[in-house]
Amino acid sequence: MIYLDYAATTPVRDEVVQTIQEALIESFGNPSSTYRIGKSTKYLLTQARKSLANLLNVSEHDIFFTSGATESNNWAIRSQAELARKLGKGNHIIVSAIEHPSVMETLVFLEQEGFEITYIHPNSDGEVTAAAFVKATKDQTIGWIAMAVNNEVGSILPVFELGELAREKSLWFHVDAVQALGHLDWDYSELACTSFVGSGHKFYAPKGIGFMVYQPWDKQMKLTPLIFGGGQEANKRSGTENVPYVLGMVRALELLAEEKNSILEHHNDLQNYLYDQLNQHQIAFERNGNPKAKVPYIHNIWLKDLMASQLLILMDLAGIYISAGSACSAGSLTDSKILKAYYPETPERWSQSIRLSFGKESTKADIDKFIIQIKKFIERK
Ligand SMILES: Cc1ncc(COP(=O)(O)O)c(C=O)c1O
Repeated sequence: MIYLDYAATTPVRDEVVQTIQEALIESFGNPSSTYRIGKSTKYLLTQARKSLANLLNVSEHDIFFTSGATESNNWAIRSQAELARKLGKGNHIIVSAIEHPSVMETLVFLEQEGFEITYIHPNSDGEVTAAAFVKATKDQTIGWIAMAVNNEVGSILPVFELGELAREKSLWFHVDAVQALGHLDWDYSELACTSFVGSGHKFYAPKGIGFMVYQPWDKQMKLTPLIFGGGQEANKRSGTENVPYVLGMVRALELLAEEKNSILEHHNDLQNYLYDQLNQHQIAFERNGNPKAKVPYIHNIWLKDLMASQLLILMDLAGIYISAGSACSAGSLTDSKILKAYYPETPERWSQSIRLSFGKESTKADIDKFIIQIKKFIERK
């Protein structure tokens, strides 16, 4: 198997499996129980929250464990939008047009509830600019939303600049940091934002575990509880905590923090090799997204005149796993909304582009095999 779809999900690494297994067997107590095995599980949870806070350089009191980034994005955005409107601040939200569906569909819901949404499209250089957010801002604007790294094309958005501007304007600012966490060496204490989110399965931990950091600059903007019940997660998200997965997720991020330079170097190396090989084999292609500001592990490539859906089938038969469009759209292969936002004038690009994303186990031999299949596909046409 050649897996080149790490932006969709990552395999759980051995060390993380071990951490989870140990916790499942040895720390099965309910963290809310008052006897010793409950208290020791609670202690592990508290320590994991502290470790995550240290890794991200944020306050442990601002971390909420969730089931993943879809839940976290829904929660952070709805809570801030609805409370800001209730406090009479306005009803207008500005968002990049290239967000994940967990953000976009939340905004569709809010639009139906009477909010006004402005979408900022990438400009002709493939950039989503802070200047465009500022220009679209008006009296009724309450918040801005931008992802750190786009999951389909790998573009890095100017979230640090946006955050400073949002703070100056007293707007809430939400960042989906899913594709940056564990991949980019960022100090999140320098990211001025009122909320950001992460998801374990994007960095070698299991699916179904993630977190939100909520740190409003306006203390009136309290987080609205998501689930009522036994009062876990500071009374904001009740339900017995999934301690083994929390421990596994934090372990995964700790390991990546230690390896960050070597992994980045590895991804840069693979990136150069990929484009060298495409050129050497005279495969007609263009890169999608913003090549000047991107992560080296996500590559979205327009393969001219090749239907991505057909190429994907051939790759699948050859045991090579890549994607076209977003895997998160429940297995569907409709034209990518992200590519439509980038290239409204070039419909061929929407259906003739594929995404490859590397992980720490990816090799040049994987890329060679991928190239062989593209050549086979071209020959068969
Ligand atoms: C940028 C981005 N945001 C949010 C999500 C959703 O995360 P989860 O699978 O944890 O719900 C994904 C997953 O593909 C993503 O890539």
